Amino acid sequence: MARIGIKDVQAMKQQGDKIVMLTAYDYPSARIAEAAGVDMILVGDSLGMVVLGYDDTIKVTLDDMLHHSKAVARGSEHAMVITDLPFMTYQTSLEDAMRNAGRLLQEGGAQAVKLEGGVHMAETVRRLVQVGIPVVGHIGLTPQSINQLGGYKVQGRTPEAAERLLEDAIALQQAGAFCIVLETVPAPLAELITQRLAIPVIGIGAGAACDGQVLVWHDLLSYHTSFLTRHIPRHVKEYAHVGDDMRKAIEQYAAEVRDGSFPTPEQSFRMSKEALAELTEARP
Ligand code: KIV
Repeated sequence: MARIGIKDVQAMKQQGDKIVMLTAYDYPSARIAEAAGVDMILVGDSLGMVVLGYDDTIKVTLDDMLHHSKAVARGSEHAMVITDLPFMTYQTSLEDAMRNAGRLLQEGGAQAVKLEGGVHMAETVRRLVQVGIPVVGHIGLTPQSINQLGGYKVQGRTPEAAERLLEDAIALQQAGAFCIVLETVPAPLAELITQRLAIPVIGIGAGAACDGQVLVWHDLLSYHTSFLTRHIPRHVKEYAHVGDDMRKAIEQYAAEVRDGSFPTPEQSFRMSKEALAELTEARP
């Protein structure tokens, strides 16, 4: 089966088929996402928070993204792999944006890059697209600007802010982005933007009217330390509780090691009586 491309996701929008995007950060998660039939795998810079243990995405480097993108690319066959350009790898100059986005495709194995920002990033998007790098825009709550936004808050609630978001979306489309991610905006605004754009709009915390949805792997599976903190963002639906399951499994393993019930003969390797006798005779 051929890999999903730009034209396929654009055709899905036209046909009204919902697009499924999910983040992944390593080889086994990419394999599982593939097997589950996900359309687009995002190697998001949420990596910094859910895998590397940072407080935000600001600290993620291009080397981090390359390392994880390569693993995901090795594990994917059919889904389109999109890798995030991390903070300050594309905002500094058009040259930096092209060089770093190029590395994510050439070395990281991605088919497209994602970057945050609307109107003010349109020129960068245009240049990347001109040189053959497919771009996904990301507007609404843009985590790389968290220090400016002052927290993970809903964006576009006032008429002025909503108007700015619509302008951002249109600017990205005009610059050649083939798709946008719309994060944490009121559902009616997301619906309006989705209707106004010809390119697919993938929502996260943006309601059901978007052309597709994206969730973070660790949120969808509750694969983190939420059993300690229990903070579940409003936009998240947990479809499993693998963090709890893992902790229970490891607790059982630790208990069985301590009481001697693991390993059993079933998990052990045999040796012939003769070989053992020869050894004990040679070394009484
Ligand atoms: O980094 C990421 O995982 C993202 C999604 C939240 C869209 O950008």
